[in-house]
Amino acid sequence: MHTRHVVSARDLGLGFCRELFKRADEYRTRLDRDPTSCITDLSGRVALLWFRQPSTRTLVSFEMAAVRLGMSVVQVIDPQFSSEYKGESEDHSMRTVAGYRPDALIIRHNQEGGVARAAASAARAFGGPVPVINAGDGKGEHPTQALIDVYTLLQLWNNGTQQDLSGAHIAIGGDLQGRVPRSLAFLLADYGPEITFISAPELRVGEDVKEYLRTRDISFTEETEIDGTLQRAHFWYWTRTQNDQRTDKEKARLAHVDPRSMQLRLSHVRGMRKGAKILHPMPINRKPGDVSEIEPAIDDIDTAAYWQQSANGLYVRMAVLQTLCSP
Ligand code: NCD
Repeated sequence: MHTRHVVSARDLGLGFCRELFKRADEYRTRLDRDPTSCITDLSGRVALLWFRQPSTRTLVSFEMAAVRLGMSVVQVIDPQFSSEYKGESEDHSMRTVAGYRPDALIIRHNQEGGVARAAASAARAFGGPVPVINAGDGKGEHPTQALIDVYTLLQLWNNGTQQDLSGAHIAIGGDLQGRVPRSLAFLLADYGPEITFISAPELRVGEDVKEYLRTRDISFTEETEIDGTLQRAHFWYWTRTQNDQRTDKEKARLAHVDPRSMQLRLSHVRGMRKGAKILHPMPINRKPGDVSEIEPAIDDIDTAAYWQQSANGLYVRMAVLQTLCSP
């Protein structure tokens, strides 16, 4: 049997996403009716969560998704505490744990490419390969976040009546060098929206992403200010500055970038087109003393769609697990 992985948003394809979103809708309906109704869908199966970086949403929603489907979960949330501490290679660790036959190996990694490497190790496990899910790899990708994002955009665009995002204009802003905007842009290429990237020049989206969009005929522009797009975008996809993913040298190089220039404020919301929505993968930075990329007053107005977006993580990840783990 072909083992399906979810490592890059580039590999998913429209057919896979459509099927997955249909399943996510079904899970939403079933859980609304009865939270215990999915408990036999994957009962007896096991998900292994191997997390090398902090996480709230990805970790908890994957675990909630697994448990709602009747799966058991094994967590290694600090591999520092594993035999790597004794000098074991990552390849050996992955090959070993994949040999215990988890039905899904869900990995968050601190290095770009780390999950693809782990999938290659897991493919050589004694007993055969196991499905690997990328739960975020350094600055690389975060494909299940992109699935959640596109699922949410489809719900919001024309009241969920359309199967694609043609006609929609999405502003993607903040720090565009992280894994989230990368995977989102890759996946959006299948859905045909217009995109405006908004960031400080130093935080622009990568050349490889732009090249990918060009080859897919997606129309995009790049801006360094918020105001010019306010009246045009239907969606505002905002991101936090990913300093935790940067070396001290990189941080020093970016020290002059003023976070206020990319803060979405209520005054911007007033200038947005009617019905515009703000999305964010979260976490939103609310460290005391820091400038938050989203003014706190936005949290409780209708424009904020990030609560709906994060709640969708449950249904979409249930659909991912079901797709990869059912016999
Ligand atoms: C993101 C991540 O970890 O890449 N969070 C998430 O999974 N929802 C975004 C971030 O950390 O900024």
